Amino acid sequence: MAGSAVRSFRDACGLFATGVTVVTTGSGEAAHGMTANAFMSVSLAPPLVAISVAETARICPRIQDAHQFAVSVLPRDAERTAWHFAGKPSPGATPVFCDLNGFSVISGAAAAFTCDLEQDIAAGDHRIFVGRVRALRRCSALEPLVFHRSAFAGVDLSAIKGLHVEEEDTDVLLE
Ligand SMILES: Cc1cc2nc3c(=O)[nH]c(=O)nc-3n(C[C@H](O)[C@H](O)[C@H](O)COP(=O)(O)O)c2cc1C
Repeated sequence: MAGSAVRSFRDACGLFATGVTVVTTGSGEAAHGMTANAFMSVSLAPPLVAISVAETARICPRIQDAHQFAVSVLPRDAERTAWHFAGKPSPGATPVFCDLNGFSVISGAAAAFTCDLEQDIAAGDHRIFVGRVRALRRCSALEPLVFHRSAFAGVDLSAIKGLHVEEEDTDVLLE
C-alpha cells in the first residue's frame, strides 16, 4: 500500500473514538506494560475480551510465554500514564502498579481485568489475543480517558443525560 493510503487508513481508523488501556504482564519487579486502544469485550458467557498487539511490541512474546495478561482502563487524569507505556515517559512521573488477583494492574484505573490467554490469532502485523477474564475491578465513578484523531480527551460524566454513576468500587472473581 502506498504511503498516502496507509496514512488515510490510519486517519480513518482514528475517527473511531476509543477508551485507552494499559495491557500488562508479570507482577512486581517483572511487571511490563503497553498502552493499547485496540481493546474490546467479546463475549459475556464465557467472559472474553480481546486486544490487538503489534508483533514488534515487547509485550507480545511475554503474553505468549505467560499465557496471561491484564488490562487496565485509564481514567481521564492518566494521560501521562498512557504516554509512559507508549514509549514516551515524562521525567518524574512513574506510574504505580497495584495487585489484582496476583497480576500487576495500573493503580487508580477505572476498571481492570485479569485474563488467561484463550486464543492467539495472527492478524497481519499484529496478534489478536483473546483473554478469558478471571477477575475484574470496577471504579465506576471515574471519568474515562478517550483517544480520538491521535489526541487525548476526557468525558464529563455529569454531561451524560440519565447516567447512573455507582460510587462503590468493586473487585469480583469470576469462575
Ligand atoms: C493511545 C495509544 C494507543 C495505542 N494502541 C495500541 C494497540 O492497541 N496495540 C499496539 O500494538 N500498540 C498500540 N499503541 C502503541 C504502543 O503503545 C507503543 O508502540 C509501545 O511503545 C509498544 O511497546 P514497546 O515499546 O514496549 O514495544 C498505542 C499507542 C497509543 C499512544
